[in-house]
Amino acid sequence: MEHQIVVLIHLICAVLFVGAVAMEVLIFEPVRKIMGDEIFQKVEFYLFRQIRRTYPLAIIPLYVTGFYMYFGHVENLGGFDAFIATTFGQLLTLKMAFALGLLTIFAGSPFFFMHHRQTTLGGRVRHFLIVTGGPEDFRIGRFELIHYMALGFGLCIVIIAKLMFVL
Ligand code: HEM
Repeated sequence: MEHQIVVLIHLICAVLFVGAVAMEVLIFEPVRKIMGDEIFQKVEFYLFRQIRRTYPLAIIPLYVTGFYMYFGHVENLGGFDAFIATTFGQLLTLKMAFALGLLTIFAGSPFFFMHHRQTTLGGRVRHFLIVTGGPEDFRIGRFELIHYMALGFGLCIVIIAKLMFVL
């Protein structure tokens, strides 16, 4: 029962996270052509800033529950050596590697997407936490590459998550 609740929290957070990335690629990117780059840059900046400020609420429980279950499986299988010898353990570890890749994209996004002018450590931490600067600092040239990569990672994670139970 407890395990099922942890899985449920993990799944809800996963849907929220990958859903936001899918919305950016499938809905927002095509709308760019209609609204033009100037408006797109402004809207995308405010959207990105809001996502960056709100999404830790989903991402922190997603990764906490993920690692909690990961180490639970390692323990159940009698230690890391026995765990990694199984196909389940290998796929779960691969899924974790993809998930850490996606987390790196999310965590680094204020620096990938924005021209930031902060030179002090405090300024960089502030930018990391709340995204400082304005719409003119948003690099729309990087929008497609980073979002396509993030969606690719997200889909691989979900596919591996299901494969690990059937292979
Ligand atoms: C973007 C990040 C992530 C996404 C989208 C994601 C998605 C999923 C999905 C869809 C499942 C299948 C659940 C089911 O059908 O029962 C799952 C299961 C699982 N995930 Fe994640 N996950 C993510 C991050 C992580 C991380 C970082 C870990 C830690 C290593 C992790 C560990 C697990 C484990 C152990 C299960 C198996 C649950 C069970 O025992 O039933 N996940 N995940």
